[in-house]
Amino acid sequence: MISDIEIKNKWFEFFESKGFKRIDSYSIIPENDPTVLFTTAGMHPLVPYLLGEKHPKGNKICNIQRCIRTTDIDEVGDDSHLTFFEMLGNWFLGECDKKKMIEYSYEFITSPKYLGIDKSRVATTVFAGDEHAPRDEFAYNTWKACGIENVYYLDKKHNWWALGGGVGPCGPDTEMFLDTGKEKCSESCSPACDCGKYLEFWNDVFMQYVVEKEGDQVKPLSKPNIDTGMGLERAMVVINGLSSVYDYGVLKNAIDLIESRAGVKYLESEKSKRSYRIIADHIRSALFILGDERGVVPSNVGQGYILRRLIRRAVNCARDIKLDTKYFSNLIDIYVDRHGEDYADIKKNREFAKTELQKEVEKFSKALEEGHKEFDKVIAGIEKHKEFALKNGEIVPSVISGKACFRLYDTFGFPFELTKELAKEIGFSVDEEGYKKAYAEHQEKSRSASAGTFKGGLADTSEKSAYLHTATHLLMAGLRKMFGAGVMQKGSNITPERMRLDFNVDHKLTAEELKTLEDFVNDNIKREIPVTFEEMSLDEAKKSGAVGVFESKYGEKVKVYTIGDVSKEICGGPHAKNTKDLHHFKIVKEESSSAGIRRIKAILD
Ligand code: ALA
Repeated sequence: MISDIEIKNKWFEFFESKGFKRIDSYSIIPENDPTVLFTTAGMHPLVPYLLGEKHPKGNKICNIQRCIRTTDIDEVGDDSHLTFFEMLGNWFLGECDKKKMIEYSYEFITSPKYLGIDKSRVATTVFAGDEHAPRDEFAYNTWKACGIENVYYLDKKHNWWALGGGVGPCGPDTEMFLDTGKEKCSESCSPACDCGKYLEFWNDVFMQYVVEKEGDQVKPLSKPNIDTGMGLERAMVVINGLSSVYDYGVLKNAIDLIESRAGVKYLESEKSKRSYRIIADHIRSALFILGDERGVVPSNVGQGYILRRLIRRAVNCARDIKLDTKYFSNLIDIYVDRHGEDYADIKKNREFAKTELQKEVEKFSKALEEGHKEFDKVIAGIEKHKEFALKNGEIVPSVISGKACFRLYDTFGFPFELTKELAKEIGFSVDEEGYKKAYAEHQEKSRSASAGTFKGGLADTSEKSAYLHTATHLLMAGLRKMFGAGVMQKGSNITPERMRLDFNVDHKLTAEELKTLEDFVNDNIKREIPVTFEEMSLDEAKKSGAVGVFESKYGEKVKVYTIGDVSKEICGGPHAKNTKDLHHFKIVKEESSSAGIRRIKAILD
C-alpha cells in the first residue's frame, strides 16, 4: 500500500524534477471572491494568474491545496464524500502544452518510481466536442501514443471543467481512471458509468477558454493554461483498492479515538458508522476553518454559518453514539499533529480553534435545552387546539407543522430528526414535506446572503455589515485615544460576520490594551449614542475635524458620520442608527499585518 504521505512526497519530487516550482497552500478562505465560500480546488486562488497576471514563482508551479467543498455535505458519512480534502495540483500558466502534460501524467501514473500502476489498468477520457469547442483529438492521440488502450470521448457533462459559478477560465479536460478489473456492467459500460468498474482519480484541465461574465458564451483565452487536480483522499482509496476514505491514516486514527470513548461501537449499525464518520470529517473541517490565518468563527451567515452547521451536526452525531463532546479537543490534536507541518496556521491557532469549538458546542447545548422547552410549548399549543376543536366536533390530527419544525431547527438549532423522534415518542407525527419546503426557502435566502458577504467593505450594505462598520469607527476612536491622533486606518474589510481593521501601531497590543479597547467600544454601545451623518465639502469636513483616510477617493461632497462626541469620520456608510444596535463587541484576534501595521479582527455577538 502506498501511503498518502508518500503520494504527496512523490508529487513534489516528480513535478520539481520537471522544473515546476513548489508553492504553499493558500488559505481555505478566499478573499473578496463572490463565487465561493471556501477554496474548493487548487486552481481557485490562482485565478488571477490563470487570467494572465505573472506569478512570482514563474509559469510552472505545483502545490497541495487544502480545500473545503460543502455541496455534497449531506453525502458525508458514505464511503467517499468528505467536506475537507487536500488537492494535489500542477499548472502551466500562459502555456497549454497538452502533449507534455499528458506524457507527465502517464509517467507519474505508470512509472514504478511514482504510482507504478500498470498501463493496462488505466483508462482515460477526453472531450467529444460541441458547438463551442472542437473534439479533442490531440489529447486522444497523445494518450494512444503513450500506450493507453482505453481512451473514451465523452461529452461536456463529463469532460469540461469550469468554476462552480460558471464564470472564469474553463475548458475541456482529460480524466484518468483506474480500471478495477470488474466485469463491464453492459455493452456500453465506460468511465461515464458509475457501476464502479472505473474510478476517477486525476483530472487535467486544458484551460483554453473563458466565460467573462454570467450569461456570456465561452471564448478562447488569449493565454491558455493547464490546471490539474488530484484529490489526495480519493486517489489513496482508488490506487490502494480501499473500501472507504475512513480506512486509513488520520481519519482512521480519529475513528479509533472516538471508538475508545463512545458508548456505541463504530460498526454497530449503519447509523452509528455514519455518525462516527461525520464527526471525524466535520471536526477536521471546523479546525481548518477556525485555525486558518483568515479564521472565521461560527455565525449565522456565510462561512460562519457553514462552520456552525458542521459543529452542530457533529454534536448531534456525538449524541447518537454517546460520545462526550469534550473529546472533540482530542480530535483537534490528532489533526494538528498530522496536518500541522503542512499548514502552520492550524498549529499556531490550535488552542484558539479548541476554545471556539467548545464555545459553540456549549452554545448549541444550551440552545438544545431551550429547544426542548419550545418543543413542549408547541405540543401544548396543538393539544389545546385539539381540545377546542373537539368541542365543535372536529378532529385535529397530532401533527407538528413544517413551519414549527423549521422554527425549532432554525431558531433553536433543534435538528429535524430530533423533533421527529420526540414527536414519535408521544404519538405525534411531523409534516416532513412542509419542513423541507421551509428549509429550501431558507437556503435560497442564505445563499443570497452569502453572496453579499463577499462584496466586502462599503459595497456590502447588509445590516450586520453596517453595524460592524460602526464598530470599526468606535474601535478607531479607541485606538486614537490610546495611542494618539497619529494612528490611522490602513485598511479595512468587513463581511456580515466580522470586521477587520489594519492600523499603524508599532507593537503587538497587550492583553490589557485589547481589553481597554474592547471596553471602550462596549461602553459606547451601552451609552446608546445616535449615529448621524451630514453631507459637506471635503474642506468643510476637514475643518470640522473629521478624520478622513482615503480622501482621494471622494468627490467634492463627502459624508461625515458622527457618533456623539466619540467619532467623526469621512465615510460613505452605511452605519447603524444607534450604537445600541451593536449589542456587544468582541475582539477575536490581534496580529501583525505588515511591518508597523497591526490588524484586529472583531465580531459583534
Ligand atoms: N480544477 C480541476 C478540478 O478540480 C483540476 O478537478
